[in-house]
Amino acid sequence: MAKITQELSLALPALTKAVFSQPCEKDGAKKVELRPVLLRGRRCYQAERFEGNRAFHENYTEDALLAWAAEKLDGRFRQVLLVTETESRQFVLRRDGSYKKTASAAALPKPGEGQAHNREKEYILREGENIPALVDLGVFTKDFRIVRARYDKFRQINRFVELVAQDVRDEGADVIRILDFGCGKSYLTFILYYYFAVRRGMKTEIIGYDLKADVVARCNDIAARYGYDGLRFEVADVTRDRLADTEIDMVVTLHACDTATDYALAYAVRHGVRHIFSVPCCQHEINLSIGRGGDLDLLLTHGIIKERVSALLTDAIRAAVLEGAGYEVDVIEFVDFEHSPKNLMLRAHWTGKKRTAERVRAEALRERYGFRQSLLELIPGE
Ligand SMILES: C[S@@+](CC[C@H](N)C(=O)[O-])C[C@H]1O[C@@H](n2cnc3c(N)ncnc32)[C@H](O)[C@@H]1O
Repeated sequence: MAKITQELSLALPALTKAVFSQPCEKDGAKKVELRPVLLRGRRCYQAERFEGNRAFHENYTEDALLAWAAEKLDGRFRQVLLVTETESRQFVLRRDGSYKKTASAAALPKPGEGQAHNREKEYILREGENIPALVDLGVFTKDFRIVRARYDKFRQINRFVELVAQDVRDEGADVIRILDFGCGKSYLTFILYYYFAVRRGMKTEIIGYDLKADVVARCNDIAARYGYDGLRFEVADVTRDRLADTEIDMVVTLHACDTATDYALAYAVRHGVRHIFSVPCCQHEINLSIGRGGDLDLLLTHGIIKERVSALLTDAIRAAVLEGAGYEVDVIEFVDFEHSPKNLMLRAHWTGKKRTAERVRAEALRERYGFRQSLLELIPGE
């Protein structure tokens, strides 16, 4: 029995879902999904084939499914995901026709089982989890332990993805498209991809943008090495260059420098992106341009206080602009200060309810103090 059919056969008794994607041939199914179904009291399997814009369904007994898989699926799809009640495993096709396991993880609980009522405790990434891409990125050692020097970064990205997972879990979508502005070495980008594509088995498309060509090339190499076909990186100055013009569900930023964050938020507003998770840093703009003229003057006397007040003011204004544009916004401390002093996250979800009064208050402050703030300029009021 060929390798992937063998893996499928072992997984079948506890299988919850299998996905065969990235076909080698142009004609035929773009993707096949398998699910267990109960037919006249007997456990069988439904195959859903996606061809063109249509989906075709067929039901198989266990033996018939394995015979069909050996003939029609094995070696014909570059990427395979097998999800059982206990584990989720991803495989990619090698040149010689065999499959290589590229990631495995404990399965997430099903909604309603145990953790659904305790979602904030959901643990996304465990030390020891088999994620070779993280070894290549330098976050895990070869035996999947956290590299000590990366521990704070690990805490940040783990918490970041936990927060994302809490909010997106209930939507029930099986596709997600994300842009990461100022992705840098892309630990967050890879883990987001891993979470959605491997752990949740969703069709996942993520683009990471960064100024640095060498970092972008390296991240693309790693993504290709592990068959992360929906993950790609592009060299771009997000304050200037033309970015994706397709439908996007989520914009993320983690410490994207200074006004790069404003451009990410402005992109989200202009494109009607539903979810924003943004952790700003280096908020220099107001600090460099703020004048005097009101009740806040005392806070602008000492350099260090002025810098911190300006950073907080920047994020308060960003929140107000998003609220004025129809987002519900929370500003939260996403990790403890010890793991990063830049630990404020703007978490925003589109509701369509515009709180224009918030924006008007931000504009009044700008008027009085004469500072510049890019998001206020990029997203004009009504
Ligand atoms: C502090 S790093 C954070 C990287 C990553 N998000 C993380 O948290 O590990 C900021 C990144 O933003 C990128 N960046 C800054 N300004 C940018 C711009 N205008 N367009 C694209 N990337 C930018 C930098 O090149 C850098 O890699």
